[in-house]
Amino acid sequence: MAILQVSDIYKDFGRTQVLRGINFSLEQGQAIAIIGSSGSGKTTLLRCLNFLETPDRGRIQVNGETLFDADDPATQRESEVRKKRLHFGLVFQSFHLFPQYTALENVTLAPRLLAGERPDFKARRKELFAQIDAQGRVLLERMGLADRAGHYPHQLSGGQQQRVAIARALALKPDILCFDEPTSALDPELTGEVLKVIRSLAEQKTTMLIVTHEMAFARDVADQVIFMDGGVIVEQGAARQVIEHPREERTRQFLSRYAEN
Ligand SMILES: Nc1ncnc2c1ncn2[C@@H]1O[C@H](COP(=O)(O)OP(=O)(O)O)[C@@H](O)[C@H]1O
Ligand SMILES: [Mg+2]
Repeated sequence: MAILQVSDIYKDFGRTQVLRGINFSLEQGQAIAIIGSSGSGKTTLLRCLNFLETPDRGRIQVNGETLFDADDPATQRESEVRKKRLHFGLVFQSFHLFPQYTALENVTLAPRLLAGERPDFKARRKELFAQIDAQGRVLLERMGLADRAGHYPHQLSGGQQQRVAIARALALKPDILCFDEPTSALDPELTGEVLKVIRSLAEQKTTMLIVTHEMAFARDVADQVIFMDGGVIVEQGAARQVIEHPREERTRQFLSRYAEN
């Protein structure tokens, strides 16, 4: 069974039809890269999955549970949205770290807040926070940032900040980790270190949706590639096939523009 099933998602902004019937599924341990021109609806799709936008039509299911159904208001209760969001981790283009917190505090903030909602929190506060901090340090270590735990965002390079943001997204153990152009805001020399971390997550079979402009990375790291244009999926297939032997003319045109740059 697919871990994520996206069915018939439509989204308009006023008169602009941004998503026009998006269907795909993602298997546990798979990475799908989403490519496409600016304005094709990639960010809006990720925002719909993370409940930052409400689709006009369609369904979103995770592990067989219907998280969102446009026809079923019961699935759209605000009170439950926060819990549903926990299925997804989100890493943005521009890291969005909290400037007043250290790297470790950025990673542990959300797990600490969640722990505070446990019925046994008062009695176990110290122990729970110690566990969370230890897990946070392990995550930073996996990101190659073991020696940066106490640094503030302004003391870190863009690539380091983005790796803290990835650790933060992993800290809540999401079922699906989503990236929206994670390297677009980085200088070229810092792109590699972030792609390397995402590559290692793929090797560890982290389930991921990665919106990216890095075609070689998509080809080498993703299992599947989705090419979006004008709010629809034009082509989807094995990563190497889509990038190297696209079936659709629109995919070919898009990729040839990249090859020229
Ligand atoms: N909040 C919004 N209000 C109005 N239009 C929006 C909004 N968000 C996105 N759009 C429009 O939706 C289209 C797709 O945007 P987006 O999902 O950001 O595409 P991409 O990430 O592929 O570049 C664009 O035409 C954009 O202007
Ligand atoms: Mg975008």
